Amino acid sequence: MTDIERKITIRIASEKDALGLSELAAKLFYQAYIGSMPSAALESYIVENFGITQQRVELLDLSITTLLVESETELLGYAQLRLNPTPVIQDSDITAELWRIYVDRTCHGLGVGRQLLGRIGEIAREMSHDKIWLGVWEKNVGAIAFYKKLGFSVVGEKEFHLGDEVQNDLVCVGSTTAE
Ligand SMILES: CC(C)(COP(=O)(O)OP(=O)(O)OC[C@H]1O[C@@H](n2cnc3c(N)ncnc32)[C@H](O)[C@@H]1OP(=O)(O)O)[C@@H](O)C(=O)NCCC(=O)NCCS
Repeated sequence: MTDIERKITIRIASEKDALGLSELAAKLFYQAYIGSMPSAALESYIVENFGITQQRVELLDLSITTLLVESETELLGYAQLRLNPTPVIQDSDITAELWRIYVDRTCHGLGVGRQLLGRIGEIAREMSHDKIWLGVWEKNVGAIAFYKKLGFSVVGEKEFHLGDEVQNDLVCVGSTTAE
C-alpha cells in the first residue's frame, strides 16, 4: 500500500455532499482545462454544471453513483457512474458510463485514479454491467494514456459542447473487470 492509499478513503456520496462536491468538481474541472480552452467558456461551463443545486439533483438521481476520495482534511477527487437509458455506441448494449473522473493534481500519478476506476468497475459489475464506456477530449493526452493503461480501447468519436466550442471526444470502452 502506498502512502497516499493509506491516507485516503473512497466512499459513495450522498445528498449531504452537494456543497463539497460542487466546490470540488468546479476546482478540478478548472485545474484540468485551464490553459487549454478559453477561460470564459470554462467558467460558464462550471457555473452551468457544478452549482450546488445541480449537484444535489445529481446526487439524488438514482441513475448516477458518485464516489468521493477524501483524506482526513479534504476531498481529493471523485468519479461518477451514470446509467444511460439507451446505448450511446451504435449496435451495442453498453449503457454504463464513466461520466466523470477527476483527481486533484497534487495526487496525480499515485494510483488514486486506478483505485477510483476499480471501484466504479465493481459497482457497475454489481449492477450486471460487464462493460463501461466513456468520452474523453481528444486533446486530453494524459487521460487517454490513463484509460489505455487501464484496458480501455477507442471505439468511436462524439461531439462535446463547451459553450460555443464544439470539441471532439474519443469514445472508449473497457471491461468492468479490467485492472
Ligand atoms: C486521469 C486521472 C483521473 C488519472 O488519475 P491518476 O491518479 O493520476 O492515475 P493513476 O496514478 O492511478 O495511474 C494509473 C495508471 O495510468 C498511468 N497514467 C496516469 N496518468 C498518466 C499520464 N498523464 N500519462 C501517462 N500515463 C498515465 C499511470 O502511469 C498508471 O500506470 P502504472 O500503474 O502502470 O504506473 C487524473 O490524471 C486526472 O484527474 N486528470 C485530470 C482530469 C481528467 O482529465 N479527467 C478525465 C476526464 S475524461
